[in-house]
Amino acid sequence: TQAPVNVTVTGAAGQIGYALLFRIASGQLLGQDVPVKLRLLEIPQAVKAAEGTAMELDDGAFPLLAGIDIFDDPKQAFEGTNIALLVGARPRSKGMERGDLLEANGGIFKPQGEAINAGAADDIKVLVVGNPANTNALIARSHAPDVPADRFTAMTRLDHNRALAQLSKKLGVPVTEIKKLAIWGNHSATQYPSVQHAEVAGKGVEVDQAWLENDFIPTVAKRGAAIIEARGLSSAASAASAAIDHVYTWVNGTAEGDWTSAGVVSDGSYGVAEGLISSFPVTAKNGKYEIVQGLEIDDFSRARIDASVAELVEERDTVQKLGLI
Ligand code: NAI
Repeated sequence: TQAPVNVTVTGAAGQIGYALLFRIASGQLLGQDVPVKLRLLEIPQAVKAAEGTAMELDDGAFPLLAGIDIFDDPKQAFEGTNIALLVGARPRSKGMERGDLLEANGGIFKPQGEAINAGAADDIKVLVVGNPANTNALIARSHAPDVPADRFTAMTRLDHNRALAQLSKKLGVPVTEIKKLAIWGNHSATQYPSVQHAEVAGKGVEVDQAWLENDFIPTVAKRGAAIIEARGLSSAASAASAAIDHVYTWVNGTAEGDWTSAGVVSDGSYGVAEGLISSFPVTAKNGKYEIVQGLEIDDFSRARIDASVAELVEERDTVQKLGLI
């Protein structure tokens, strides 16, 4: 049998962690024949809660769960790790400016990037979930110069899945029938969920522009706020599910004739400044995400992509000024 894959999860005692860890332990992250060893990272005050979750994981008697270790030190948590899910982050508190938020997260993602650089396995793959995800990924990446840039990704798969669900309802077709949706830009309210290249049964999707602009795009982009309003807590199980999807696809590939969405390091494609971590339509093959090339971008899409990328540039400039990258 295969040696266990080491999976580090930060923010393990949080809401997303609680949903995510059981999905990983049950084999849904990598597949039903791959044993996993969990390495949980928390801040010292939350280690006890993480221990409680670990007790419940034990109680699941998961056949593929080969061990659980809990840490409050990033250096140890990322030692030898193959897959790192960076979920723990500093949330925005009332009255906090964006600069303060980015600075507080720099204090988390800089040492984590350094620890990944120092100790992770050669095949390390990193998914940043904690917000602001794209820029947190940029910070971590910039402190891991020995790790290839394409190993750092940010999660926009939840936005992608939300877009699939909305379009599926509108068209009255199952989500499995819809191909080539894409999320562009930042995981924020400026994101652009695009149906420009979407297909059902090999044909382009016809929806009216008013529905796109007044319904579809804002519903997807503001879904996080709508969940908080309804549930009194932010999206957790759906975010965990998207993290599972992101890594599973990364490792196992996208289907022929389809793509998905992920925040990846820009190579300058589609006018997105090189080095930014922006969401693009991506395919996965042989354990690599690649930006789908050569798509025609219509004027409406162009303006939306540019607006979201402008926000990413601003965030990058802010963390640069703060000396975080
Ligand atoms: P939560 O507040 O329930 O849990 C966060 C956990 O992270 C806490 O247990 C906290 O102790 C821990 N933590 C804080 N600093 C840490 C550090 N330096 N090292 C290790 N652990 C640390 O939050 P929740 O609901 O689990 O969400 C986590 C993050 O995911 C948030 O930033 C949220 O905004 C983000 N998110 C991102 C989504 C996306 O689509 N990219 C979707 C939903 C949430």
